[in-house]
Amino acid sequence: MPAVTTAKPFQPRIERRTDPVSEADRDAILNAPGFGQHFTDHMFLAEWTPEAGWHDERIVPYGPLALDPATAALHYAQEIFEGLKAYRHENGSVWVFRPEQNAARFQRSAARMMLPELPIDWFIESIDALLSVDGAWVPGGGEKALYLRPFMFGSESFLGVRSARKATYAVIASPVGGYFDAGVKPVSLWLAENYTRASAGGTGAAKCGGNYAASLLPLAEAAQHGCEQVVFLDATEHRMVEELGGMNLYFVYDDGQLVTPASDSILDGIIKKSLRDVAADLGYNVTERPIAIEEWTEGVAAGRITEVFACGTAAVITPIGRLVWSGGEVNSAADGQAGPVTATLRRALVDLQYGRAQDTRGWMHRTGR
Ligand code: PLP
Ligand code: COI
Repeated sequence: MPAVTTAKPFQPRIERRTDPVSEADRDAILNAPGFGQHFTDHMFLAEWTPEAGWHDERIVPYGPLALDPATAALHYAQEIFEGLKAYRHENGSVWVFRPEQNAARFQRSAARMMLPELPIDWFIESIDALLSVDGAWVPGGGEKALYLRPFMFGSESFLGVRSARKATYAVIASPVGGYFDAGVKPVSLWLAENYTRASAGGTGAAKCGGNYAASLLPLAEAAQHGCEQVVFLDATEHRMVEELGGMNLYFVYDDGQLVTPASDSILDGIIKKSLRDVAADLGYNVTERPIAIEEWTEGVAAGRITEVFACGTAAVITPIGRLVWSGGEVNSAADGQAGPVTATLRRALVDLQYGRAQDTRGWMHRTGR
């Protein structure tokens, strides 16, 4: 499908909700938001057809979408999404972290899934527009944020297997606290030996819903083994470390090196990418290279790998403790705490996102109110 570069200026119609959540109820939600359980008063929607390009951009009250039962995405999973956060700084202003990176990845995901590419400025303006009406939903204090979920799906009604000639783009927003219930405590990982997430030439590098559906069964297996997340290996040799179901990985070595797995079938994480620069600023040497599972298990056992952490928009930086597999386990956070490098990088990232550190690279985008 050709990229559609719409010449049409972005001019959303705004239909305000007549029964918004009361200030008291909103405050109660913002006080203890959980993750992805509550949604703001409005959502953004736009439609695409080959003839009209992107059109009918609008902010409407948050609510159910009416879908024909033959809607393409419901049958063949032609769907992509993004995840980014809006942070409230101490002076009350609202900022989003590197939205142009999410916009570019959304275009790459769209290209892989035969969906129309959304112009970068439409992606960013749709977020700005939603935050201009729902900015009061951005929580302040602690590590809370407003999680933004842009998504797109094939919305044509038909049952043939081909790319849809109608697509719908939407943005919803959910106030969130930490992704893990335990806060910044080391999480345990189950090594998926019988399942893979993505293969060479597959959709691993696209942020499409099907990848996540495929990770649910291994995640259930992890839970049966007392683990919170799953580590996926490559689909060919079942040996090279890829990523978790919704997070990238970093390894800290005893000589101060940081390594993050290189692979064409993992998601090109924006936090992972940003940490390369943040870590370099702090004097760490970061390498992106293939890493085999035995380098991880033997490295932790021998003390060469001193810390392991997961990173992502939802996960921020989360220390990894136990790695469990059918034949044993190792623990890279036996004391139950984040290691010093993990903690230092985490503080640097969070300080930048919450405006407590200088944004020397212009990564933060001011928006909302
Ligand atoms: N890997 C997967 C499979 C993900 O879903 C995510 C989350 O978006 C990440 C990695 C981390 O990506 P990012 O840092 O852009 O949030
Ligand atoms: C994100 O970090 O934004 C994701 O999409 C991952 C998911 C586990 C919530």
